[in-house]
Amino acid sequence: MIDTLDIRITRTSASRLANTDFNNLGFGKIFTDHMFVADYVDGQWKNFQIMPYGELALSPAISVFHYGQAFFEGLKAFKQADGKAIIFRPYKNAERFNKSAERMSMPELPEDTFVQSIAALVDIDRHWIPSEKGQSLYIRPFMFATDPVLGVQPSSTYKYVVLTSPVASYFTKNLKVKIETKYSRASEGGFGFAKCSGNYAGSLFPTREAVKEGFDQLIWTDSRDHQYIEELGAANVMFVLDGTLITPSTRDTILKGITRDSVLTLAREWGIPVEERRISVAEVVEGIKKGKITEAFGVGTAATIAPIAEISHEGVPYTLPDPAKAEFSNKVLKTLNELRYGLVEDQFEWNYTV
Ligand code: PLP
Ligand code: COI
Repeated sequence: MIDTLDIRITRTSASRLANTDFNNLGFGKIFTDHMFVADYVDGQWKNFQIMPYGELALSPAISVFHYGQAFFEGLKAFKQADGKAIIFRPYKNAERFNKSAERMSMPELPEDTFVQSIAALVDIDRHWIPSEKGQSLYIRPFMFATDPVLGVQPSSTYKYVVLTSPVASYFTKNLKVKIETKYSRASEGGFGFAKCSGNYAGSLFPTREAVKEGFDQLIWTDSRDHQYIEELGAANVMFVLDGTLITPSTRDTILKGITRDSVLTLAREWGIPVEERRISVAEVVEGIKKGKITEAFGVGTAATIAPIAEISHEGVPYTLPDPAKAEFSNKVLKTLNELRYGLVEDQFEWNYTV
């Protein structure tokens, strides 16, 4: 690791580690002892600090509270069989972090600064990385606007913060999803590809409506006429159709997932035909009805590989074959886990050792 970042470190005097119940982690409810904080002032990133996890004092006038200039990333650290700590593909998140920053009119963070800030924090809280199957340390870097000014304009100051949280699975069961045909998550020319907070805020109401109808998640479709599949609320979506792995091609309405890239890379390595293209709702419905679609699953950092058991469209449910027997998605999940836990060779150099 290139360790050049000058970080002021204040360690906690009261670790909460011993009082943490690692058998009931859930997702994103428990935070480690420390957090990373930096400020963007006068056109520069400064005040790099690792400090005890805790509250931040903020003016109620800061622009993030009013105009939502904020975005985040999500990545994971794993403890390997030999005790080594690794972070999975952090430079990919660094790259996407800056894509979000640009679209939100916010400052970029040098990729090495992003990775080193995270590595330093994971290093200090390395005892918090869980080691049970399916568990990991979820890392949440984010940035928000801090000018206490009510004019609608890009802020001139920002905070960059990294939190870490020991987690279990985000989804605890096979998903029952609804193809959304009324609301939209993103539109052409918009910012669906950015991991900005507003994308998630806008998805809460439609998702809650779907949950009331008994669904776990939505499959978002294009905002123009809801005829093409885009992605899930917190993951990209893939299907196995006649033995070919298919997934919507990325565009400005879809988050370009890193798990998506890892899964496509493994599939190509295994010689499985892969298609990144427009996928219509009709193709999915017909494919399930005719038994041509044998697997459907979400792919994401939090979601990992999330099997879909049922997809509904316009009130009609279509049942997928039993996900427990899904050959590709189970193999890809197993392989990703083995790679991250250090049980097979890291041939693509995806693991960043802390
Ligand atoms: N799409 C959305 C809307 C997400 O929130 C996520 C999660 O980060 C993904 C896709 C998957 O992206 P990644 O695999 O990089 O976590
Ligand atoms: C992630 O997988 O990192 C996400 O951001 C999904 C989420 C919103 C929990």
